[in-house]
This record gives sequence, structure tokens and C-alpha cells, in this order.
Amino acid sequence: MPIEKYTNDRSNLDEAQRILIDWPPEIKMPNVGIVQDIGAFPSWTKHVRFCENNSIPCVVYSIRDHDWLEKAEEFDVIIGFTSCSSYDLDEIRYKYFILETVLKKACYPSFQNMLLYENKFLEAELSRIYNFPYITTYVSFDKKDAHSLITNLEFPIVSKIVPSSGSLGVELIRTPEEAKKLIRQAFSQNGRKIHIVYARQKNYIYFQEYIPNDGYDIRVIVVGNFVFGFYRKAPKGDFRASGMHLEEMRSLPDEAIKIARNVYKKINSPLLAVDMVHGLDGNFYINEFSPIFEMSTLNQLKVDGVSGAYVFDKNEEYQFFECKYWVHELALKEFFQNHYFPKFTIGEKKE
Ligand SMILES: Nc1ncnc2c1ncn2[C@@H]1O[C@H](COP(=O)(O)OP(=O)(O)O)[C@@H](O)[C@H]1O
Ligand SMILES: [Mg+2]
Repeated sequence: MPIEKYTNDRSNLDEAQRILIDWPPEIKMPNVGIVQDIGAFPSWTKHVRFCENNSIPCVVYSIRDHDWLEKAEEFDVIIGFTSCSSYDLDEIRYKYFILETVLKKACYPSFQNMLLYENKFLEAELSRIYNFPYITTYVSFDKKDAHSLITNLEFPIVSKIVPSSGSLGVELIRTPEEAKKLIRQAFSQNGRKIHIVYARQKNYIYFQEYIPNDGYDIRVIVVGNFVFGFYRKAPKGDFRASGMHLEEMRSLPDEAIKIARNVYKKINSPLLAVDMVHGLDGNFYINEFSPIFEMSTLNQLKVDGVSGAYVFDKNEEYQFFECKYWVHELALKEFFQNHYFPKFTIGEKKE
């Protein structure tokens, strides 16, 4: 795998409309530390653009350095993440815990959302608690329990590993024998070999019901009152759509939009992507939701070839509007307006 690098695409960003925020005069402008994410489609450059367009002082914050704590002293707000690799997640989660919970800095994503990012365990558990239509999932960290689980499952099932993305580590398990083998490997001394060379699936299993579906993974993106989204098609002969680069842009199903809005309201994140498959039984099933995700283009929704967003009003009704925004910038506006400013409103606590 090639070593990914920081990309600076600042010179290509101005096709998007600027997003401006009404800064309340009684709230001091914060010093913002921008954490850089690696890869070809960075978020950090859009975060910088938003801050610059709104005259919010910001500099790059090298959170990976040994003196990250000293460096943090100059910031009131920390924005960004590094990558979805497990070692980066381990690092940023404990650092965001300290920054937000101990040092009381405002963080976007929040520490809570950093924990949720790339954490299919947490997604499944929260879905059970909040009654989200998440695909029925069975997680066990005990070998005996895992074996007893599979006696009651209908095959095929889907097995996943945590963390993972782009459909890597998502497998169809066709028979109880295959499942038993997987359990034996996962609970062995060295764990089960996976596609990531430096990691193993060790002492857990993550099984799901297999949902026969129309061959698409629908991504619905919610940020404030805006909704974007598109379809990803599973290649011929495969049931997995994410990471296969077969995107289709067209209007989103009303029910999928409503499911995503509901999840968004429960998960306290300025930005959320909710991925669903449309079962052949007519129901939508969530296979994943995430407060952080890569966006390769400005266009996150197109209806009849026009770039735009569905925008909700106070009556929970929505209409399509033509627009061109970096969704990352909309997310920062949402963060400041509905997560940061309320911290300064005396006597008023945000939900
Ligand atoms: N339980 C399931 N039944 C049917 N298809 C599934 C199921 N879970 C995932 N998929 C398909 O596999 C793809 C990858 O699964 P997902 O959980 O989204 O993992 P990743 O984090 O790698 O994107 C999805 O895009 C979807 O097409
Ligand atoms: Mg996915």
C-alpha cells in the first residue's frame, strides 16, 4: 500500500460558494488549530478556507508531534482528524479525550464522535438503544458465546472487522462450517489474518444478517437542515458497493432521507453520513453511519444533473435547491452555530 501524504488542494476550491457565518459580537474569535488529514481528498483545506473566509484565526496544528500538548496551549478550538487507520484512530481518540474532556477545548469532531468514527461496534450498540433500522448485528467477544450464536443464525451471514472501510474485511459467510472456522481463527493465539498486514481480527466476531437488496448502497449526508447523497453500485458478482467507485448521482428516496434525519438528530454530530441498503422486502437497512468521511468532489447530490441540496424547513418539509458548497464547510458552520456558540449562552444548555 502506498504511503499516503498530505494533499493541498487549496487552489481548486473556489468553484464552491463561500459559506459565511454571523459571528456574535459578544463571543471572542477563537484561535483554531487545524489538524491535517492525509489522502487525496482532504478535509483540512476546506476547514482552512472556511476559517479564512470568516476571518477566524487558524494555523495547522501538528497533533502527531511529541510536544502536541504544549502546542495545544495556543488553541481554543481544534478542528480535524488524521486518517481512518487503526493506529491513527488510537492516537487521535486519546488526544481528543484530553483536549476536550480534560483541557476543555472545543473539538470538531467531538471526542464522542471521534469514538464513533470507524467503530462499527458502537454503531450497532447505539442503533439498538435508539431503535435505528440498523442491520441486525451479532457481536461477541467470547468464543463459546460466538459458537452458540451461530446455531441460531440463518445463512448466509455477513462478517465484518473493526475498524475497516471500502468493503475491505466485509465477507459473505455461506455456511455454519465457514463461520466456525472464522471463530476458531479469530479466537486463536495470533488472531485471524486480515487484509491489513499489521493487524489481526482478535477475540471478537461481528456477524450480520445478509440483506438481499437492489445492489446499491445509498449514502445520505445530513448537515444542519441540508441533505445530500448519492448511490454506490455493487459490481457485478459482488454484494459490496462501498469503495468500488461506481457512484450514481440522482434523487434520494424520501424514506432514506427521513431515516437519516432521525439518526442525525440522535447522534450529536454537526455532520453525519448514513449508509443504507434497500432490501428486496422494501425496507431500508442502515449498514453504517459516520460523523467523518471522505468527499472526493464538490457534488454530493445531483438531481437531474443539477448540483444542490435538499433543504428542510421548520415544518420538517424539504425542497431541492441548486447550490455548490463544500459540505465540510457547511459542517463547520453548523459546529460553530449549534455546538460552539451555545457554550457561551449563560443559562441555556444545548440538547
Ligand atoms: N448485512 C449486509 N447485507 C448485504 N449487504 C451488505 C451488508 N453489509 C454491508 N453490505 C454491503 O457491503 C458494503 C460494505 O459494507 P460496510 O458495512 O458499509 O463496510 P465499509 O465500512 O467497508 O464500507 C456496503 O456498501 C453494502 O453494499
Ligand atoms: Mg460502508
